[in-house]
Amino acid sequence: MTNDERPSAFKTIAVIGTGQMGAGIAQACAATGAHVIAVDPDHAQRERAKLGIGKSLAKLAEKGLVHDPAGIEARIKFSAKIDDAEPADLVIEAIVEDMAAKRALWEELDVICPPDTIFATNTSSLSVGEQAAATDRAAAFLGLHFFNPVPMMALVEVVSTDALDPKVLGRAIALVRTMGKTPVLAQDTPGFVVNRLLVPYLLDAARAAEAKVATTTDLDAGMKLGAGHPMGPLMLLDFVGIDTVVRIADIFHRAFKEERHRAPAILTAMVGRGELGRKSGKGFYDWTGKEPVARPL
Ligand code: 3HC
Repeated sequence: MTNDERPSAFKTIAVIGTGQMGAGIAQACAATGAHVIAVDPDHAQRERAKLGIGKSLAKLAEKGLVHDPAGIEARIKFSAKIDDAEPADLVIEAIVEDMAAKRALWEELDVICPPDTIFATNTSSLSVGEQAAATDRAAAFLGLHFFNPVPMMALVEVVSTDALDPKVLGRAIALVRTMGKTPVLAQDTPGFVVNRLLVPYLLDAARAAEAKVATTTDLDAGMKLGAGHPMGPLMLLDFVGIDTVVRIADIFHRAFKEERHRAPAILTAMVGRGELGRKSGKGFYDWTGKEPVARPL
Protein backbone atom coordinates (compact mmCIF):
# COMPACT_ATOMS: atom_id res chain seq x y z
CA MET A 1 0.00 0.00 0.00
CA THR A 2 1.42 3.44 -0.88
CA ASN A 3 1.06 6.38 1.52
CA ASP A 4 -1.84 7.90 -0.40
CA GLU A 5 -3.89 4.70 -0.07
CA ARG A 6 -3.77 4.60 3.76
CA PRO A 7 -6.70 6.19 5.58
CA SER A 8 -5.80 9.29 7.60
CA ALA A 9 -6.18 9.42 11.38
CA PHE A 10 -7.15 13.12 10.95
CA LYS A 11 -9.42 14.85 8.42
CA THR A 12 -7.85 18.30 8.43
CA ILE A 13 -4.33 19.15 9.55
CA ALA A 14 -2.86 22.65 9.77
CA VAL A 15 0.90 22.99 9.42
CA ILE A 16 2.32 26.29 10.62
CA GLY A 17 5.56 27.32 8.91
CA THR A 18 6.49 26.17 5.40
CA GLY A 19 10.29 26.04 5.59
CA GLN A 20 12.02 22.79 4.63
CA MET A 21 10.51 20.91 7.60
CA GLY A 22 7.01 22.43 7.38
CA ALA A 23 6.77 21.77 3.64
CA GLY A 24 7.80 18.15 4.13
CA ILE A 25 5.35 17.69 7.00
CA ALA A 26 2.51 19.20 4.95
CA GLN A 27 3.31 16.77 2.14
CA ALA A 28 3.47 13.77 4.48
CA CYS A 29 0.12 14.75 6.06
CA ALA A 30 -1.60 15.26 2.69
CA ALA A 31 -0.30 11.86 1.56
CA THR A 32 -2.41 10.26 4.33
CA GLY A 33 -5.57 11.64 2.69
CA ALA A 34 -5.95 14.54 5.11
CA HIS A 35 -6.73 18.05 3.92
CA VAL A 36 -3.83 20.31 4.83
CA ILE A 37 -3.79 24.02 5.53
CA ALA A 38 -0.16 25.20 5.24
CA VAL A 39 0.20 28.58 6.91
CA ASP A 40 3.13 30.95 6.43
CA PRO A 41 3.03 34.75 6.37
CA ASP A 42 6.05 34.81 4.02
CA HIS A 43 4.91 34.71 0.37
CA ALA A 44 8.33 33.68 -1.00
CA GLN A 45 8.55 30.84 1.53
CA ARG A 46 5.11 29.56 0.51
CA GLU A 47 6.13 29.62 -3.16
CA ARG A 48 9.36 27.70 -2.40
CA ALA A 49 7.34 25.15 -0.43
CA LYS A 50 4.88 24.65 -3.33
CA LEU A 51 7.76 24.11 -5.74
CA GLY A 52 9.58 21.71 -3.40
CA ILE A 53 6.45 19.64 -2.73
CA GLY A 54 5.71 19.39 -6.47
CA LYS A 55 9.25 18.20 -7.21
CA SER A 56 9.31 15.74 -4.33
CA LEU A 57 5.94 14.22 -5.29
CA ALA A 58 7.02 13.88 -8.93
CA LYS A 59 10.13 11.98 -7.77
CA LEU A 60 8.13 9.70 -5.45
CA ALA A 61 5.52 9.05 -8.16
CA GLU A 62 8.29 8.13 -10.62
CA LYS A 63 9.34 5.42 -8.16
CA GLY A 64 5.77 4.21 -7.55
CA LEU A 65 5.86 5.40 -3.93
CA VAL A 66 2.77 7.60 -4.40
CA HIS A 67 -0.01 6.93 -6.89
CA ASP A 68 -1.81 10.24 -7.02
CA PRO A 69 0.69 13.12 -6.73
CA ALA A 70 -1.79 15.63 -8.17
CA GLY A 71 -4.40 14.58 -5.59
CA ILE A 72 -1.93 15.01 -2.74
CA GLU A 73 -0.87 18.44 -4.04
CA ALA A 74 -4.50 19.50 -4.43
CA ARG A 75 -5.21 18.63 -0.78
CA ILE A 76 -2.65 21.23 0.40
CA LYS A 77 -4.07 24.76 0.61
CA PHE A 78 -1.60 27.53 1.37
CA SER A 79 -2.51 30.54 3.44
CA ALA A 80 -0.84 33.60 4.95
CA LYS A 81 -3.35 33.79 7.82
CA ILE A 82 -3.10 31.89 11.08
CA ASP A 83 -6.92 32.15 11.50
CA ASP A 84 -7.25 29.65 8.64
CA ALA A 85 -6.03 26.92 11.02
CA GLU A 86 -9.43 27.04 12.77
CA PRO A 87 -11.05 23.97 11.06
CA ALA A 88 -8.06 21.69 11.73
CA ASP A 89 -8.39 18.73 14.10
CA LEU A 90 -4.59 18.67 14.42
CA VAL A 91 -2.15 21.59 14.25
CA ILE A 92 1.56 20.92 13.77
CA GLU A 93 3.95 23.84 14.16
CA ALA A 94 7.28 23.97 12.31
CA ILE A 95 8.36 27.56 12.89
CA VAL A 96 11.70 28.90 14.11
CA GLU A 97 13.35 27.06 17.03
CA ASP A 98 12.70 29.81 19.56
CA MET A 99 10.68 29.29 22.73
CA ALA A 100 9.21 32.81 22.87
CA ALA A 101 8.06 32.62 19.24
CA LYS A 102 6.55 29.17 19.73
CA ARG A 103 4.73 30.12 22.94
CA ALA A 104 3.32 33.26 21.30
CA LEU A 105 2.06 31.15 18.39
CA TRP A 106 0.41 28.58 20.69
CA GLU A 107 -1.29 31.31 22.74
CA GLU A 108 -2.80 32.65 19.53
CA LEU A 109 -3.82 29.22 18.24
CA ASP A 110 -5.36 28.29 21.61
CA VAL A 111 -7.90 31.07 21.05
CA ILE A 112 -8.45 30.35 17.33
CA CYS A 113 -8.92 26.55 17.52
CA PRO A 114 -11.71 24.61 19.31
CA PRO A 115 -10.65 23.03 22.64
CA ASP A 116 -10.51 19.49 21.22
CA THR A 117 -8.01 20.35 18.46
CA ILE A 118 -4.74 18.52 19.10
CA PHE A 119 -1.55 20.62 19.07
CA ALA A 120 1.84 19.16 18.11
CA THR A 121 5.24 20.82 18.00
CA ASN A 122 7.98 19.74 15.61
CA THR A 123 10.57 21.19 17.98
CA SER A 124 13.97 19.53 17.76
CA SER A 125 15.25 20.54 21.17
CA LEU A 126 12.88 22.79 23.13
CA SER A 127 10.64 21.65 26.00
CA VAL A 128 7.23 20.39 24.85
CA GLY A 129 5.79 20.93 28.35
CA GLU A 130 6.88 24.57 28.42
CA GLN A 131 5.09 25.12 25.10
CA ALA A 132 1.99 23.25 26.33
CA ALA A 133 1.89 25.58 29.34
CA ALA A 134 1.17 28.47 26.96
CA THR A 135 -2.20 26.80 26.22
CA ASP A 136 -5.19 25.46 28.14
CA ARG A 137 -4.86 22.03 26.51
CA ALA A 138 -1.80 20.32 28.01
CA ALA A 139 -3.67 16.97 27.73
CA ALA A 140 -3.91 17.44 23.95
CA PHE A 141 -0.39 18.78 23.39
CA LEU A 142 2.57 16.65 22.29
CA GLY A 143 5.75 16.62 20.23
CA LEU A 144 5.90 15.16 16.71
CA HIS A 145 9.51 15.49 15.62
CA PHE A 146 10.13 14.79 11.94
CA PHE A 147 13.47 14.34 10.15
CA ASN A 148 14.85 16.05 7.09
CA PRO A 149 14.11 15.30 4.25
CA VAL A 150 10.67 14.43 5.64
CA PRO A 151 9.37 12.48 2.60
CA MET A 152 12.43 10.18 2.72
CA MET A 153 12.96 9.72 6.45
CA ALA A 154 11.18 6.80 8.11
CA LEU A 155 11.17 8.10 11.70
CA VAL A 156 8.99 10.43 13.76
CA GLU A 157 9.77 10.95 17.44
CA VAL A 158 6.53 11.13 19.41
CA VAL A 159 7.15 13.13 22.56
CA SER A 160 4.83 12.89 25.52
CA THR A 161 4.55 14.83 28.76
CA ASP A 162 3.03 13.79 32.11
CA ALA A 163 -0.13 15.74 31.24
CA LEU A 164 -0.74 14.06 27.85
CA ASP A 165 -4.00 12.13 27.40
CA PRO A 166 -3.10 8.53 26.30
CA LYS A 167 -5.91 8.69 23.69
CA VAL A 168 -4.20 11.70 22.06
CA LEU A 169 -0.90 9.82 22.09
CA GLY A 170 -2.64 6.86 20.42
CA ARG A 171 -4.07 9.05 17.65
CA ALA A 172 -0.68 10.64 17.01
CA ILE A 173 1.00 7.23 16.79
CA ALA A 174 -1.72 6.10 14.36
CA LEU A 175 -1.06 9.16 12.19
CA VAL A 176 2.67 8.44 12.05
CA ARG A 177 1.95 4.82 11.04
CA THR A 178 -0.53 6.03 8.39
CA MET A 179 2.33 8.08 6.95
CA GLY A 180 4.24 4.81 6.57
CA LYS A 181 6.75 5.98 9.17
CA THR A 182 7.91 4.43 12.45
CA PRO A 183 7.13 6.19 15.73
CA VAL A 184 9.72 6.21 18.49
CA LEU A 185 8.35 7.26 21.88
CA ALA A 186 10.49 9.77 23.76
CA GLN A 187 10.18 11.69 27.00
CA ASP A 188 10.29 15.48 27.04
CA THR A 189 14.06 15.99 27.48
CA PRO A 190 16.29 18.26 25.34
CA GLY A 191 16.90 16.71 21.89
CA PHE A 192 14.77 13.63 22.68
CA VAL A 193 16.63 10.57 21.29
CA VAL A 194 18.11 11.45 17.91
CA ASN A 195 19.33 15.03 18.31
CA ARG A 196 20.70 14.32 21.78
CA LEU A 197 23.07 11.83 20.13
CA LEU A 198 23.41 13.36 16.66
CA VAL A 199 24.10 17.03 17.43
CA PRO A 200 27.25 16.46 19.57
CA TYR A 201 28.59 14.34 16.68
CA LEU A 202 27.89 17.13 14.16
CA LEU A 203 29.59 19.68 16.46
CA ASP A 204 32.62 17.37 16.79
CA ALA A 205 32.76 17.07 12.99
CA ALA A 206 32.75 20.88 12.65
CA ARG A 207 35.56 21.08 15.24
CA ALA A 208 37.51 18.43 13.29
CA ALA A 209 37.08 20.52 10.12
CA GLU A 210 38.17 23.62 12.04
CA ALA A 211 41.31 21.77 13.23
CA LYS A 212 41.96 20.71 9.62
CA VAL A 213 42.01 17.04 10.59
CA ALA A 214 41.13 16.30 6.94
CA THR A 215 39.51 18.02 3.99
CA THR A 216 35.73 18.38 3.89
CA THR A 217 35.49 15.65 1.25
CA ASP A 218 37.73 13.24 3.18
CA LEU A 219 36.04 13.92 6.51
CA ASP A 220 32.68 13.11 4.96
CA ALA A 221 34.00 10.11 3.01
CA GLY A 222 35.51 8.81 6.25
CA MET A 223 32.19 8.64 8.05
CA LYS A 224 30.24 7.53 4.98
CA LEU A 225 32.51 4.66 4.05
CA GLY A 226 34.08 3.92 7.43
CA ALA A 227 30.94 4.06 9.55
CA GLY A 228 28.28 3.26 6.94
CA HIS A 229 26.42 6.59 7.25
CA PRO A 230 24.26 7.67 4.27
CA MET A 231 26.03 11.05 4.19
CA GLY A 232 29.04 12.57 5.94
CA PRO A 233 28.58 14.93 8.92
CA LEU A 234 29.61 18.15 7.12
CA MET A 235 27.16 17.49 4.31
CA LEU A 236 24.55 16.65 6.93
CA LEU A 237 25.26 19.98 8.67
CA ASP A 238 24.53 21.71 5.36
CA PHE A 239 21.48 19.58 4.86
CA VAL A 240 19.94 20.28 8.26
CA GLY A 241 20.98 23.98 8.16
CA ILE A 242 24.00 25.45 9.97
CA ASP A 243 21.76 28.00 11.72
CA THR A 244 19.45 25.23 12.98
CA VAL A 245 22.37 23.22 14.39
CA VAL A 246 23.80 26.34 16.09
CA ARG A 247 20.40 27.05 17.66
CA ILE A 248 20.12 23.46 18.94
CA ALA A 249 23.72 23.63 20.26
CA ASP A 250 22.87 26.83 22.18
CA ILE A 251 19.75 25.20 23.66
CA PHE A 252 21.76 22.10 24.69
CA HIS A 253 24.55 24.26 26.12
CA ARG A 254 22.05 26.13 28.29
CA ALA A 255 20.29 22.90 29.33
CA PHE A 256 23.24 20.54 29.96
CA LYS A 257 25.96 23.13 30.75
CA GLU A 258 28.57 21.02 28.97
CA GLU A 259 31.43 22.47 26.92
CA ARG A 260 30.95 19.88 24.14
CA HIS A 261 27.61 21.52 23.27
CA ARG A 262 29.13 24.97 22.68
CA ALA A 263 28.73 25.86 18.99
CA PRO A 264 32.23 25.96 17.41
CA ALA A 265 33.42 29.30 15.96
CA ILE A 266 33.51 27.86 12.42
CA LEU A 267 29.72 27.40 12.55
CA THR A 268 28.82 30.73 14.18
CA ALA A 269 31.05 32.51 11.61
CA MET A 270 29.24 30.73 8.77
CA VAL A 271 25.88 31.79 10.16
CA GLY A 272 27.20 35.37 10.43
CA ARG A 273 28.11 35.27 6.73
CA GLY A 274 24.68 33.89 5.78
CA GLU A 275 26.22 30.53 4.83
CA LEU A 276 23.44 28.33 6.19
CA GLY A 277 24.05 25.23 4.06
CA ARG A 278 21.92 23.85 1.26
CA LYS A 279 18.99 26.25 1.75
CA SER A 280 21.19 29.35 1.24
CA GLY A 281 23.32 27.76 -1.52
CA LYS A 282 26.52 27.77 0.55
CA GLY A 283 27.87 26.01 3.62
CA PHE A 284 30.63 23.43 3.79
CA TYR A 285 29.59 22.77 0.19
CA ASP A 286 28.55 24.98 -2.69
CA TRP A 287 25.02 23.84 -3.59
CA THR A 288 24.39 26.15 -6.52
CA GLY A 289 25.45 23.65 -9.22
CA LYS A 290 24.07 20.25 -10.17
CA GLU A 291 26.16 18.43 -7.53
CA PRO A 292 27.41 19.84 -4.20
CA VAL A 293 31.10 20.87 -4.36
CA ALA A 294 33.26 21.10 -1.20
CA ARG A 295 34.36 24.68 -0.48
CA PRO A 296 37.84 25.50 0.83
CA LEU A 297 37.85 25.85 4.63
N1 3HC B 1 11.53 13.83 -1.87
C1 3HC B 1 11.55 12.87 -2.79
N2 3HC B 1 12.70 12.25 -3.19
C2 3HC B 1 13.83 12.66 -2.61
C3 3HC B 1 13.88 13.67 -1.63
C4 3HC B 1 12.67 14.27 -1.28
N3 3HC B 1 12.60 15.24 -0.36
N4 3HC B 1 15.18 13.83 -1.23
C5 3HC B 1 15.92 12.95 -1.94
N5 3HC B 1 15.11 12.25 -2.76
C6 3HC B 1 15.49 11.22 -3.73
C7 3HC B 1 16.59 11.67 -4.66
O1 3HC B 1 16.07 12.49 -5.69
C8 3HC B 1 17.16 10.38 -5.17
O2 3HC B 1 16.36 9.91 -6.23
P1 3HC B 1 17.05 9.05 -7.43
O3 3HC B 1 17.53 7.81 -6.77
O4 3HC B 1 15.93 8.81 -8.38
O5 3HC B 1 18.13 9.93 -7.97
C9 3HC B 1 16.96 9.45 -3.98
O6 3HC B 1 16.05 10.10 -3.07
C10 3HC B 1 18.24 9.18 -3.29
O7 3HC B 1 18.84 10.41 -3.02
P2 3HC B 1 20.35 10.69 -3.32
O8 3HC B 1 20.83 9.86 -4.47
O9 3HC B 1 20.53 12.17 -3.39
O10 3HC B 1 21.13 10.29 -2.05
P3 3HC B 1 20.90 9.23 -0.93
O11 3HC B 1 20.71 7.85 -1.45
O12 3HC B 1 22.06 9.49 -0.02
O13 3HC B 1 19.55 9.61 -0.17
C11 3HC B 1 19.01 10.90 1.76
C12 3HC B 1 19.31 10.90 0.27
C13 3HC B 1 17.71 10.13 2.03
C14 3HC B 1 18.84 12.34 2.15
C15 3HC B 1 20.18 10.20 2.53
O14 3HC B 1 21.41 10.75 2.13
C16 3HC B 1 20.08 10.30 4.02
O15 3HC B 1 19.36 9.56 4.65
N6 3HC B 1 20.86 11.24 4.61
C17 3HC B 1 20.85 11.47 6.04
C18 3HC B 1 19.71 12.37 6.39
C19 3HC B 1 19.57 12.54 7.86
O16 3HC B 1 20.33 12.06 8.67
N7 3HC B 1 18.53 13.31 8.24
C20 3HC B 1 18.26 13.61 9.61
C21 3HC B 1 18.84 14.92 9.96
S1 3HC B 1 18.53 15.38 11.62
C22 3HC B 1 17.01 16.09 11.57
O17 3HC B 1 16.40 16.28 10.54
C23 3HC B 1 16.45 16.53 12.87
C24 3HC B 1 16.31 18.01 12.98
O18 3HC B 1 15.66 18.29 14.17
C25 3HC B 1 17.63 18.72 12.97
